[in-house]
Amino acid sequence: MEKLVIQGGKRLSGEVEISGAKNATLPILAAALLADGESVIENVPNLRDISTMVRLLRSLGARVTQSNGSISVKPTNSLVPLAPYKLVSTMRASICVLGPLLGRLHEAEVSLPGGCVIGPRPIDLHIKGLEALGAKITIEHGYVKAKAKELRGREIYLGGSFGSSVLATGNVMMAAVLAKGETWIENAACEPEVEDLANFLICMGAKIEGGGTHLLRIQGVKKLRGARHRVIPDRIEAGTFMVAGAMSRGDVMVKNVIPQHNNALIDKLRAAGADVTHTKNTVRVRGKKVLKPVDVTTLPYPGFPTDLQAQMMALMTITPGISVITEKIYPDRFMHVSELNRMGSKVFMEGSSAIVTGVKRLSGAHVMASDLRASAALLLAGLVAEGRTDVHRIYHLDRGYEKVEEKMKGLGAAVWREKE
Ligand code: EPU
Repeated sequence: MEKLVIQGGKRLSGEVEISGAKNATLPILAAALLADGESVIENVPNLRDISTMVRLLRSLGARVTQSNGSISVKPTNSLVPLAPYKLVSTMRASICVLGPLLGRLHEAEVSLPGGCVIGPRPIDLHIKGLEALGAKITIEHGYVKAKAKELRGREIYLGGSFGSSVLATGNVMMAAVLAKGETWIENAACEPEVEDLANFLICMGAKIEGGGTHLLRIQGVKKLRGARHRVIPDRIEAGTFMVAGAMSRGDVMVKNVIPQHNNALIDKLRAAGADVTHTKNTVRVRGKKVLKPVDVTTLPYPGFPTDLQAQMMALMTITPGISVITEKIYPDRFMHVSELNRMGSKVFMEGSSAIVTGVKRLSGAHVMASDLRASAALLLAGLVAEGRTDVHRIYHLDRGYEKVEEKMKGLGAAVWREKE
């Protein structure tokens, strides 16, 4: 096992290149199962979750090759409809093969992903949507088993208690593209990653209108062809570096981004007093010596993303005054709070809100990463803390941030990896 060591106190400045979006790539790779021919996906980040998906696609019978940031997927004639526990248990997003398998083979057996450290992660919306298309679904021995003689387009309302669902929308869309007739998905997730998936499916020959909105209209087609697609930049990685710029009172230019995808964060950083400017594909963040506290509530896109909640909290821990950070997507996603408090922050929980009282400085400590975004928050905290911070269980960070210490070093951070 490895840990990340950070010597805090360096002001970050310079440019950083953002990688392709993990959460767009994963369902897009799964969607390639729907094609008759080979698809080539470009701008793919080199991450642990992507390797897991590659292993899963191979175990399902696809031929997958990787080279220099691109992955080609060619489904063979002997696809297997089974996603086993061994692979699904290491990555919850494996559930996104359910829709394509059902669409293509009319059957699928996918291990139930179960909960995770950020809270319970039900799949009732995935099931509701696929059942509406005509699938018979049972849960047996820890597996979701889905079968359908044929899939038929329907009107489906896909909202749950916490709003829309990114991967449920993806799954239902991927099954509906090969269904008979027309499907309407209401309350579809409109995250940029869902829109990117819709665009890839369209390149494959699918008929989809409304990608990136809450209403998707899908006209089923008989066959899909392989396609070439370039994945959008990772707005969460970009956001993490933007927060790092503000937090270190630095001057960071984030390159290869779509600034509009981060409007909610840009708005909050500006409200906090940071200087944020952007061009068509760059965002520059200059942190002021003293920032102001801002309240943040996470919401589905275009609201403030839950995947940047922990990083924003790290920023608020050293911002004078009181801020309230409320989690409306995953009410329990606060594992980073106790670790930040070990570094001297003053955060206490009130239901699904964190009340943050800014302190003058954090102090370096041994801390434990609990999930991907919590790890990012601890890294950010370490960058501004006095002295040395050791972030343990860093494998979480490797699931979602490509070459993170190299990129941070490029901005002047003192950060390196050590064996435990
Ligand atoms: N939900 C239900 N029923 C469902 C599905 C979801 O109630 O059937 C609830 C969830 O419990 C949650 C809310 O709906 O309260 C939204 O969850 P969603 O389904 O949108 O999450 P997801 O699709 O499983 C993706 C990202 C997550 C990101 C969320 C929210 C991928 C691979 N994962 O998950 O990313 O937090 O959307 O934006 O796309 C991460 O990258 O660190 C990460 C956790």
